[in-house]
Amino acid sequence: MIPAIRGTHDILPGEVERWQRAEDISRRLFERYGYAEVRTPIIEREELFAKGTGETTDIVQKEMYAFTDKGGERVTLRPEATPSLVRAFVEHALEQRMAAPKVYLFGPMFRYERPQKGRYRQFHQLDVEVFGMADPAIDAEVVDLAWALVAALGIVGAELVVNSVGCPACRPAFAAALVAALGADVSRLCRDCQRRAQTNPLRIFDCKVPADQPVIDALPHSLDFLCDGCRTHFAAVERHLGMYGIPYRVSHRLVRGLDYYTRTTFEILAGGIGAQNALLGGGRYDGLFRQLGGPDRTGIGFAAGLERLVLAMPEPRRSERRRPLFVAYMGEAARDAALALLRDLRRAELEAHMEYEGRSLKAQMKRADRLRAAFTLILGEEELAAGEVSVKDMATGGQRRVRREAVVEECRALVNGGRE
Ligand code: HAM
Repeated sequence: MIPAIRGTHDILPGEVERWQRAEDISRRLFERYGYAEVRTPIIEREELFAKGTGETTDIVQKEMYAFTDKGGERVTLRPEATPSLVRAFVEHALEQRMAAPKVYLFGPMFRYERPQKGRYRQFHQLDVEVFGMADPAIDAEVVDLAWALVAALGIVGAELVVNSVGCPACRPAFAAALVAALGADVSRLCRDCQRRAQTNPLRIFDCKVPADQPVIDALPHSLDFLCDGCRTHFAAVERHLGMYGIPYRVSHRLVRGLDYYTRTTFEILAGGIGAQNALLGGGRYDGLFRQLGGPDRTGIGFAAGLERLVLAMPEPRRSERRRPLFVAYMGEAARDAALALLRDLRRAELEAHMEYEGRSLKAQMKRADRLRAAFTLILGEEELAAGEVSVKDMATGGQRRVRREAVVEECRALVNGGRE
């Protein structure tokens, strides 16, 4: 057989339910905060990310699935969603069409990275963006949404890290200070860092090479170089986070691996999911619209890796588990009655299963167990004659007869009553 491509993965029954839950919970939450869904193409012009994500990022330099298509155009599978959403927002003048300039997107992203636990070449993000709002209260609202998302998924022990990376007014001084502080040490750093020191010194903070870390840890902090506007903005973000009672840690190393960030950056980290522990990350990008040739608009948002959210999510609570029904029958005469009952249960929006192969009652009960049926409804000659159905509680083994006319309603009550 031809196997799947390295770094990609199938999401199979048994696992897909957790994905569906994560998606449902996120969707409901985003809509409560006033976001509307946008779906953009998976394939875009390469230029969108070269200009948007940034020429000096690892993503653009090493990780894009970019190629020349049959028409001779340079295209790429998207490595992230932010530039696509900005493009779509401008291209369709959504500013005029939407009640609030807040969008979200779910979908696969592609980065040619070294696969490991929690890191894939095709992975899935949920992404939210707010356009055209510069107030620091929005930064805090977006962080609050990220925090609420992690909580709504039942993930405990997560940590919020925030920073400010300044703006084009104050960043050059910070970049110069980094280069000055590195001095001759730069030659002791890895080749990537040596290149970064030349092209975009902030990117040095992305370095994962263990030997480089002591040097990087001793570098100056972006917060010490903020201009008045950026400092005031960050103080206001902190004040709002305090007001919302969201615990956080400030980390000067959080410059994020994409070039467009200005001012606020943040990540939420999880415990117990391995080295790739960033559940989500985001920040403000006030220059990206112009960078892409659009109007002068601010932006802020974040993206979460669904693989990592699903990994960090606890098992569903008993009350959230599905409680399917199974219809078993004995003898050919009961088969049609069983089929009609199966259909009635499904019409009543209950999950119901049946086996068509006409195997023994024992074999059918086995199947019911495998399906984790909460109740099995048994129809045999006796039940048929009496106009009744036997209802077996699979947890207790208890069994009783219910009138056929009443059985659908009874099942609904049983299934829903089992949730607490
Ligand atoms: P990012 O930090 O590159 O930001 O990715 C966001 C999240 O996507 C990460 O925290 C991680 O959970 C997940 N992720 C990234 N790469 C992989 C991978 N190879 N395998 C599995 N999961 C991965 C962005 O993409 C920005 N667009 C976020 C943003 C939105 N900033 C502002 N708005």
